[in-house]
Amino acid sequence: MAEFVGIDLGTTLSGLAYLKPDGHPEIVPNADGERLTPSVVYFDAHEEVKLVGSSARDGGDPNRTIYQIKRHMDDPDYFVEIDGKKWTPAEVSALILSKLKRECSRIVGDIKEAVITVPANFNELARKSTIAASEMAGMKVRRLVNEPTAAAVYYAHSQGVRGKVLVFDLGGGTLDVTILEVDGDGFRIMTSEGARHLGGSNFDEQLLDLYADEYRKQTSAELFTDERQRRRVLNAAEDAKKMLSKLQRVNDTIGNDVNGIARIDFTRDQFERLVTKLLTRAIMLVEQALAGVNLKPRDIDHVVLVGGSTRIPKVKIALERFFGKAPKSCGNVDEAVALGAALFARKSARVREVCNASYGTLAYIVNQTTGEEGVKNSIVIPKNTPIPCSHTQIYITSDANERFIEVDITQGEDEDPRFVDVIGKITLEVPPNRPAGCEVAVTYSYDENQRVRALVVDKESGRSQEIAVTYKGAGILTDEELENRGSMLRQLRIE
Ligand SMILES: Nc1ncnc2c1ncn2[C@@H]1O[C@H](COP(=O)(O)OP(=O)(O)OP(=O)(O)O)[C@@H](O)[C@H]1O
Ligand SMILES: [Mg+2]
Repeated sequence: MAEFVGIDLGTTLSGLAYLKPDGHPEIVPNADGERLTPSVVYFDAHEEVKLVGSSARDGGDPNRTIYQIKRHMDDPDYFVEIDGKKWTPAEVSALILSKLKRECSRIVGDIKEAVITVPANFNELARKSTIAASEMAGMKVRRLVNEPTAAAVYYAHSQGVRGKVLVFDLGGGTLDVTILEVDGDGFRIMTSEGARHLGGSNFDEQLLDLYADEYRKQTSAELFTDERQRRRVLNAAEDAKKMLSKLQRVNDTIGNDVNGIARIDFTRDQFERLVTKLLTRAIMLVEQALAGVNLKPRDIDHVVLVGGSTRIPKVKIALERFFGKAPKSCGNVDEAVALGAALFARKSARVREVCNASYGTLAYIVNQTTGEEGVKNSIVIPKNTPIPCSHTQIYITSDANERFIEVDITQGEDEDPRFVDVIGKITLEVPPNRPAGCEVAVTYSYDENQRVRALVVDKESGRSQEIAVTYKGAGILTDEELENRGSMLRQLRIE
């Protein structure tokens, strides 16, 4: 049995690593002989089989192919319908995890438990969906760990990185910037910032537009008219992008039998100009992360690169310019997260994380200085508080004879309720005939998987209620449903 296993469930690529007996982590290839498995699922129309990986990505009907499901892990209403059956993001992810578990188990022995990585800014629902996906695939989640933390663990292990470290993870779908302190075997996360829709796919889309324009110029026709053709060009654009990380210029031919072929010829320079805006946004996120913990670029001892898109030379140049020193790269930038997760499976005791958002409640607040009053978001646990943690805030009821105390649980930094998410609600029934001005204690606890629990105690009656924050909707299953879906999944043919 493989005891310490880490899985990077990526937007575009997923990988599994295990800890060898000598204490070093190693990537375990899938049955197709690949170190990383594209996070793509194809539902075949003829055979009862789900293809996962390269065969799914390069294969058939785009209407039967699911790409980048990770982008929807936080959406309770999202599902994909195929042949009349609805699949939630957790179930689709479970298919990807099932392939990894089954095929890697053949090499390293049965995998019953794993550390799974998530973007630092994944919210409650997305984390819960990830845990559900793993359980459906028949694997217990030892811990969820933030991707940049896992990467930092790997850099500390493989390159002896120490001090204040900034992890710059530019993957296929997201950018994560994390600052942490590494001291020997100890890791103290200071802050994490993430941009949800900033990654390699955005670069591919930009190139796709360029291809389409160029094709129109040369042939006066459209380069693609359906999704299948668009996907094909998108793959070609991605290949060209990767070549430009090594070469100054690429040539390609694009087109079809009907409207003819066009020659595409462009340079690294052109590509860099195309993605300038996206790179500027990336640097702004770095500035935001530094400002959040009152650090200057010179305070950072090492900048480490993670994610396939950091192979783009311009990304390294932009960071070097900003920090005044070259970032460190381990080469296998797209494997660092999975490798770190395998190390983390054994080391987790010495990692100190912080919560990635502020949690609060909506309360009626009177400003003592201005006299202004209204419903405000009042923060109970501020962002970047070390976890696990537990904070209590006392509120005073405003009306007499209240029968219910309602607490809205919010996620977000803003005082204005319009700019935060209400992620849960507690309704506590209290005895009749209460005066106004009763004290209500609201306690939020944040566990090491970055899951939130809330406890409301009415001091007057001693009544209390506690909930784990849950979202209603398609994304969340009860334990029983989870078990049913899990046994269904275990019977599927997944290749
Ligand atoms: N040589 C290269 N030059 C440019 N981009 C590259 C290169 N190699 C890989 N990429 C890009 O890296 C991305 C995949 O990176 P990675 O595997 O780190 O992402 P991921 O983990 O799936 O995504 P995320 O971390 O956003 O969830 C793809 O967009 C791919 O095109
Ligand atoms: Mg990644």
